[in-house]
Formats: sequence, structure tokens, C-alpha cells
Amino acid sequence: MNFDETLSLKAKHAEDVFKDYLPKEDGFQRKVLEAMNYSIMAGGKRLRPILMEESFLLFGGKGEIIYPFMAALEMIHNYSLVHDDLPAMDNDEYRRGRKTTWKVYGDGMAVLAGDGLLNLAFETAAGAFDLAVNEAELRRAARALQILGKKAGVYGMIGGQCADVEAEEGQEMTEELLLFIHENKTAALIQAALMIGAVLAGANESEISAMEKAAYNIGIAFQIQDDILDVTSTTEVLGKPVGSDEKNHKLTYVCLHGLEESAGEVRRLSKEAITILSSFENRNEFLVELVKYLIERQK
Ligand code: IPE
Ligand code: IPE
Ligand code: MG
Ligand code: MG
Ligand code: MG
Repeated sequence: MNFDETLSLKAKHAEDVFKDYLPKEDGFQRKVLEAMNYSIMAGGKRLRPILMEESFLLFGGKGEIIYPFMAALEMIHNYSLVHDDLPAMDNDEYRRGRKTTWKVYGDGMAVLAGDGLLNLAFETAAGAFDLAVNEAELRRAARALQILGKKAGVYGMIGGQCADVEAEEGQEMTEELLLFIHENKTAALIQAALMIGAVLAGANESEISAMEKAAYNIGIAFQIQDDILDVTSTTEVLGKPVGSDEKNHKLTYVCLHGLEESAGEVRRLSKEAITILSSFENRNEFLVELVKYLIERQK
């Protein structure tokens, strides 16, 4: 099986995992449940749950305790996108080749669908406690839950989105601010993925910090590539509008450094991440290949 085939099997596996945790569309709140499922079932690379499980495997993790966390992280990622696309934020009408949640269900319902996914994420992740078979696993699940809360919150993704929104309003563009935005709005959830995988597998503190650093690099590179594609790609290939950053006067790596230097930075950061991922006793070849693949990704 080649890399692309393996990747699509793993994306399918991630979907099979989180589908089990999605809500049934009934009751008087049916609309919001439909909007939640519309957003999360629209496709997408499923990168974060894949990274989480690969990190779990790298450190010898076994069993299904990782599943509720894989589902939870994909829910949080999707909630962040539903809100990110709202007229009050990036005001975008397409994602993954179809209309954004607010375009189909209205702004109010999209706000609630995001809120619904966020709450369901923590309810789902807490289900890991029921799967723990001993005291050590219970403690790991508690630690994983803390990481998820922090990396998704105001010291993570929400913090980054806050700075991203403010940077639109003509603040001074500094490298420090740009890195803060990328680290938090994007790298934080990728850090949650790699750290939680390691924690649940029983990795030690230095391994967990190494994964946090690798994920920092992967996340910054991922956002730089997203910003490059926003300039160089087409809506057909990307499945979301190109030129969104320019429209919103966003502070991006491409604005500060241009396309060529940005592409170089994606390669440099990814290589550094690969060095870290290759430094452990065990090796996960697929994980290394995945980081390489992301350098060249077109969507
Ligand atoms: C989009 O993330 C948001 C960014 C952090 C750039 P992805 O590119 O992982 O989105 P999907 O889930 O594959 O659509
Ligand atoms: C969004 O960054 C990161 C999030 C936390 C949602 P972008 O605004 O660049 O993501 P896209 O391009 O809309 O996917
Ligand atoms: Mg945005
Ligand atoms: Mg956006
Ligand atoms: Mg973007």
C-alpha cells in the first residue's frame, strides 16, 4: 500500500471512530444537531485525530482509550472552523467544497452548533475515564483532558484567534505577533493531538515535551502553508475561498516574508519536526512520511 492509500484508510478510520460519538438528529433541538453533523461530516483531512493516534502508536499505546480523545479533538477543530467562517470573523461562504455552516443554517444556529460541538467534545473525552482499566490510565486520561482544555482555550486556539482578529485592525505587524497567532490558533490543537497521544500511551515527561515541540513546528509550518495556498491555490482545489486573508487584511507569514521565503520556512520547520520524531527509541515511519507530505500539500 502506498502512502496516499494508507493516509485515506487512516482518515476513514478516524471518521469511523468519531461517527459513533455524533448526536442523533431528533428532539426540539434538531436544527442545531443537524448543523453540528453537517459541519463535522463535510470531509476534511482528519489530520488531528490521525496525528493523535500515530503519536499513541509511536509510544506503544494499545486499546481504545484514545478514541474518545480523537473524536473530541476533531469536534473542537470543527467548532473552531464553524466560528472562524462566521460573518463576524472571516466571513467565508465555502469550506471543503460546500457552503459553510452559517450559510446553510444561519448565523445564530452556526454559533450554537460550534458551542454544541465544543461541549460535546468534553463530554466525549471524559468518556475515556470509563475505558481506563487501572489507576495509571485514569491519571493519564485526567492529564489528557487538561491538555485538551488548555490547548483549545484562551492559552491556545481561542487566544490565537483573538490576536488574529485584532491584527486585522491595523496593529503593528511584528514577527512576534505573527508567531503568537500561528502558535496559538493552529499549532495548539496539533500540540494537543501529539501530546495527548503520548500521554495516553504512557510516555515520559521528556517525550511529552519533545512531542509538544515537534507539534509546534508542524503547526507553524501548517499555517504558513495554509497562508501560501490562500494566495496560490484555487477554490476548486482548496474547497474554500482563496484570497480570504487579503480580503480580511490578515497578518500572515506570506505578507511579511513573501512566498518563496515562506515555502523555505515550511521546509525548515518540518525537517526540525522530523528530527525530533526520529529521536525516540521507537520509530513511526508513517508519522514521518505524514509530516513530509504536509510540506507539499495542495489542500
Ligand atoms: C484548517 O485546518 C484550519 C487551519 C488551521 C489552517 P485543516 O486544513 O486541517 O482543515 P480540514 O479539517 O482538513 O478541512
Ligand atoms: C483558522 O485560520 C484557524 C482556526 C483556529 C480555525 P484560517 O482562518 O486561516 O483557516 P481557514 O483558512 O479559514 O481554514
Ligand atoms: Mg481565520
Ligand atoms: Mg478562516
Ligand atoms: Mg487560511
